[in-house]
Amino acid sequence: MPQTSPHADLVASSLDTHIVGSRVLVLEQTESTNDLALRLGGDGTVIVADTQTAGRGRHGRAWHSPPGLGLWFSVAFEGAGEGLQFAAPLAVRDALRPWCRIDIKWPNDLLVDGKKLGGILIEQRGNRTALGIGINVRHRIEDFPGDLCVTATSLRLAAAKPCARDEVLRAVLTALDEKIMVMRSGKNEALHRDWAAACNIQGQRVRAGTVDGIVESIDETGALIVRTDDGPQRILFGQGIEIREA
Ligand code: BTN
Repeated sequence: MPQTSPHADLVASSLDTHIVGSRVLVLEQTESTNDLALRLGGDGTVIVADTQTAGRGRHGRAWHSPPGLGLWFSVAFEGAGEGLQFAAPLAVRDALRPWCRIDIKWPNDLLVDGKKLGGILIEQRGNRTALGIGINVRHRIEDFPGDLCVTATSLRLAAAKPCARDEVLRAVLTALDEKIMVMRSGKNEALHRDWAAACNIQGQRVRAGTVDGIVESIDETGALIVRTDDGPQRILFGQGIEIREA
């Protein structure tokens, strides 16, 4: 069992949620909170780490997770979590509204003024799903290594008012719980519609591998339907894309 802190009780007791936060573990360090969520499970279990030694992002990329600066956490769900890929980015966007305006870049990058504020990684193992969320909170520009100082941002840099990590965490978990309730009441269509509108990608020219064309629509799985010279093609949810000048 991982070492947790008394702080976990504080986070858990300040939540007024139905599913998310059924149990809260706050750790100083772990490899990846997603790994723990997949290992421990428990519907709604939240695992927060101050730092991750092997935080990962989409497409096998490493996720920079230094101590003291960000919110690195995962929520475990029992079951496939269908609709989570639409619910999660909307929840983070809504929760962060008091601080700044977030754009969702298809499929679930969280951007402020074109810079990456956070990301979402959903992984499944057996009948268990881990929803991993990373949000840059307290970084100053010099805290980002390499190219990240140009491509990434944080709430501290982008927000109109100061933000405490606990407050942000509570807001995100609460918004997430609301979306999960919508999901589980069978209203995935509404979530899909809101998410697709938020991605604002229809009519844009995109490229993924050999597919190059204009996005016509987003199907029910979240894949892009792209008009190309060779006819309509599908870019699967989560495939890497480049957005090009039309
Ligand atoms: C992305 O590539 O945009 C997704 C980044 C997801 C990072 C979070 S941090 C908490 C959780 N644990 C991980 O190892 N990754 C996710």
